[in-house]
Amino acid sequence: MCHNCVAGSSSGASRRSFARFLAAGAGLTVLAACTPEAPVAEAPSSSAPIPTITSEYTTPSPAAVESTTAAAEPPAQVPVPPSAAASLPGQFSLTDPASPWVVVNKHRPLSPADYAPADLVQPSVQLAASGEAALLNSTTAAAAEAMFAAAAREGMVMVLASGYRSYGTQVVTYNGYVAARGQADADTASARPGYSEHQAGWAFDIADGGGVCGFQPCFADQPAAVWAKANGHRFGFVVRYPWMFHPVTGYYYEPWHLRYIGVEAATDMVGRGINTVEEYFGVEAAPGYP
Ligand code: DAL
Ligand code: ZN
Repeated sequence: MCHNCVAGSSSGASRRSFARFLAAGAGLTVLAACTPEAPVAEAPSSSAPIPTITSEYTTPSPAAVESTTAAAEPPAQVPVPPSAAASLPGQFSLTDPASPWVVVNKHRPLSPADYAPADLVQPSVQLAASGEAALLNSTTAAAAEAMFAAAAREGMVMVLASGYRSYGTQVVTYNGYVAARGQADADTASARPGYSEHQAGWAFDIADGGGVCGFQPCFADQPAAVWAKANGHRFGFVVRYPWMFHPVTGYYYEPWHLRYIGVEAATDMVGRGINTVEEYFGVEAAPGYP
């Protein structure tokens, strides 16, 4: 199965070589990026036990890192059209961090850089996170509650693995990646402080109830990820970093990272077959920091 393939990169061969790339170790960087304090072993809010989720801090062996270079594919070329969202009746700011449409990427830092939402709350969902990581802004929290409940009704076990991250937490997170893997590699997986959607409370990471493939490439094929990708838009969420769209988003595939943009926009974006918020809102691609 191909995940969010772009034209020219959806062949089995492409998928296989990308899989080799991931398996080789850069994928550990690539795909394991979202949460600093491994969302593990904390007492969950529900009575169901939440198993440990693999930390993303595993450092690949030098041989594995070396072997990734040859297997990497050329970047996809994805044109950025004018804003498709312009046709929606309701319009929101693309720059205000309190707006559900704020586009945060390597070209578009939060302003102010140390922004913190005023309305952080803990959603009533199954948690594999604690402290600030169990918080979301109030709009995202309400949507998450609706989505998790719908998933549960369909027999899906979905847990919140990592939500809000303050500027200070992102400093620690990003520096951890840099120390473990070097800055270039860190920048493919972890946002620099002031550049993470997690800091605005509009994004969170999910896991499945068993913690299978937590923050790993194979999470894409776990039931919770498959369900979220197919149904998230009904609750206002999109998979923010789709497979092979790193030339646009700046990050490799994160099937666990969901971003709230509202039901209308998410449904429109998915319905039009648009893969990234950069393309949907008509802002420039942000493969790297300026
Ligand atoms: N892993 C995403 C890009 C973040 O750090 O916000
Ligand atoms: Zn994330």
